[in-house]
Parts: sequence; structure tokens; C-alpha cells
Amino acid sequence: MKIFDLKALAAAGRPKALEGAITTAAGALRRGELVAIPTETVYGLAADATQPLAVAGIYAAKGRPSFNPLIAHVADRAMADEHGIFDALSRRLADAFWPGPLTLVVPRRPTSAVADIVTAGLETLALRMPDNAVTRDLIRAVGRPIAAPSANRSGGISATSAADVVAELGDKVSVILDDGASPVGVESTILMIDQGVPRLLRPGGIARGAIEAVLGRPLVGLDTETEGTDRPLAPGMLTSHYAPNASVRLEANEVRHGEAWLGFGPRVPSDVQKAIAVANLSATGDLIEAAANLFRLLRLLDRSGATTIAVAPIPAEGLGEAIRDRLTRAAAPRTG
Ligand code: TXA
Ligand code: MG
Repeated sequence: MKIFDLKALAAAGRPKALEGAITTAAGALRRGELVAIPTETVYGLAADATQPLAVAGIYAAKGRPSFNPLIAHVADRAMADEHGIFDALSRRLADAFWPGPLTLVVPRRPTSAVADIVTAGLETLALRMPDNAVTRDLIRAVGRPIAAPSANRSGGISATSAADVVAELGDKVSVILDDGASPVGVESTILMIDQGVPRLLRPGGIARGAIEAVLGRPLVGLDTETEGTDRPLAPGMLTSHYAPNASVRLEANEVRHGEAWLGFGPRVPSDVQKAIAVANLSATGDLIEAAANLFRLLRLLDRSGATTIAVAPIPAEGLGEAIRDRLTRAAAPRTG
């Protein structure tokens, strides 16, 4: 396994070495191998989306249930149009938010070479143009979309650094492109454009309000009839997910015996000295900073050996919706 430190190569003014890293990673993807890629949200475990065997390798490496479809990442709008059908609404959203942490689920173009295993048999395709220039150059070099879920074992905490990827999947990837800490820190917002109606399938790195401002109308949520069944709209949304080894207790105002404390904002509980370990998502109560710190601090507190991580209340506005979503899944009863 090769790790390329992209920030060091850029800082040292070595464009040839940076190009070499991209060429090496593109070669590995074309051979059907797995590569860890940086994105603005979290690190991805990538394979060439047109090679079913390579994509099967993602599911095997993560231990991912095979019904859960993957996001195809594209370098530019032309590549997106080649594989998905964009109506006026999806074009407007792509204009406003790409590159960036928005995934659009659109009808799959019948001529698309994306393998069926990527969509898990659905007639729709999840497309995203990540806001990381090296990763877009890599996709351009491969010449086709790359499928990439978060680079962690299925059900666990998402990877927001190259060190996280090494710990989770180090023996499964040929190349890791290390571009430092993921700046957004939570996964992309997923929208499905369903017969002209935009539906929020997963809150994420772009806040609901920003999307509603572009659309000029409120977003419809998940269809409750499909929630909790075997055939959900976004299958990854339903089970225990993002789970540390410790259990997670939400909306906590005090620390109990054996717990680690994950705070938000300036308030510190009076019994905080009882905590086995202490961290704060954002001491100033900034939700953008909290999102960027979320998975790193969950990992940190999990390593403390605490039986439970107690988490302070997080407001539901802005990126708070995505943070609360991830924490609720981290706290969900464990199925596996
Ligand atoms: O920020 C992100 O989105 C990261 C980075 C690596 O790009 N990726 C990511 O992928 O979070 P993953 O596989 O962990 O989550 C993809 C989600 C799953 O909940 C899956 O069910 C949903 O997207 N999904 C994919 N294709 C879909 C489709 N055609 N219809 C509905 N949901 C879909
Ligand atoms: Mg994931």
C-alpha cells in the first residue's frame, strides 16, 4: 500500500510528484483495485464504477450489505450527464452546489456504463461532484465515474483522515491519497428528484435551508411509509450506523459514572470531572466547526475506554440537522 501526502507535495512545490500520485492511483483504479480518496466531506473507498468486480471489492472490504447502493463520483458536468438524466430542477441544483457536498439521485441513463452493482439494481443513480481538486483530477484521469462509500467498515464511524483509513481498511487499499483532515466532516446531503419533487434522503454537508433558498420551496422528507421496511428509499439510512464501540447517550446534561463527555458550546456540566475523557465539538457553539470535528472526536472518546459517550444537546438548525442525524444513528440499538 502506498500513501501520498498531497499537502506536503503541494507545499514543496512538486507538481510532477503530485501528478505521479494521481497517475499511480488512476492506474490502480483501472486495474480494478481500491483507492482511498479525499473529499471535502469524508474519505471515500473508491473503485472504478464501471467494473463490477472492482465494486464488489468495496462491498467485501467494508462488509457492506449488498442492497445498499453507492454514490458515483464524477469529475465534471459532462461526465454526470453521460450517466444520469438531469431535468431543469437537478440542473439548477448542480449549478448551485457542484462541486460540493450535495448528491443528486436522478434517473440512470440507459446507456450508462456504470455497473448494476453500484445502484444495487435501482433505476436511479446517485451522482456527486466532490469539492477536492485532486480527486476530480483522478476521476478525469480514470475517465469514468468512481464509486465510493465512506472509507470505514460498514456500520462504524466514517473516516475523516488518512490515519482513520489506515486503521479501518489499511490492508484493503492499494493507494491512499492523504489530503489532511476532511474540511466538512459529515457526508453529503442526498436529494432525490422524484417527478419534479425534491426529496431529502439524507441530511448532510449542505444545510436544508441553503437548498430551500435555491428551490424557493420547502424540501419533502423521507416517505414514512418506506421507512423501517426492507425497501427504503435510502437503504443506508435506517439501521445502526456511525457506531463507536461505546454506546452513545444523547441530549445529556450531566456525566454519569464510566462515561466520556462530548460537549457543544461553552456550557460545561458541573460534574465533568467524573468523565473518563472530555472533548468539545465547538466551544463557541459553531455548527460548521462541530460537523468538522464530529467523527474525529467520536473516535477519540471511543479510544478512552468509556462504556458510554454522553453528548450535549445539539441545535437542529443548519448543519445541526446532519450532526443530529449521525448521532441518532450512532446511538441506535446495535443490530450486528
Ligand atoms: O459525502 C459522501 O456522500 C461520502 C463521500 C465519500 O462522497 N459518501 C458516502 O457514501 O457517504 P455512502 O455509501 O456511505 O452513503 C451513500 C448513501 C447511502 O445511504 C445509499 O443508500 C444512498 O446513498 N444511495 C445511493 N444510491 C442511491 C439511490 N439510487 N437511491 C437512493 N439512495 C441511494
Ligand atoms: Mg457511510
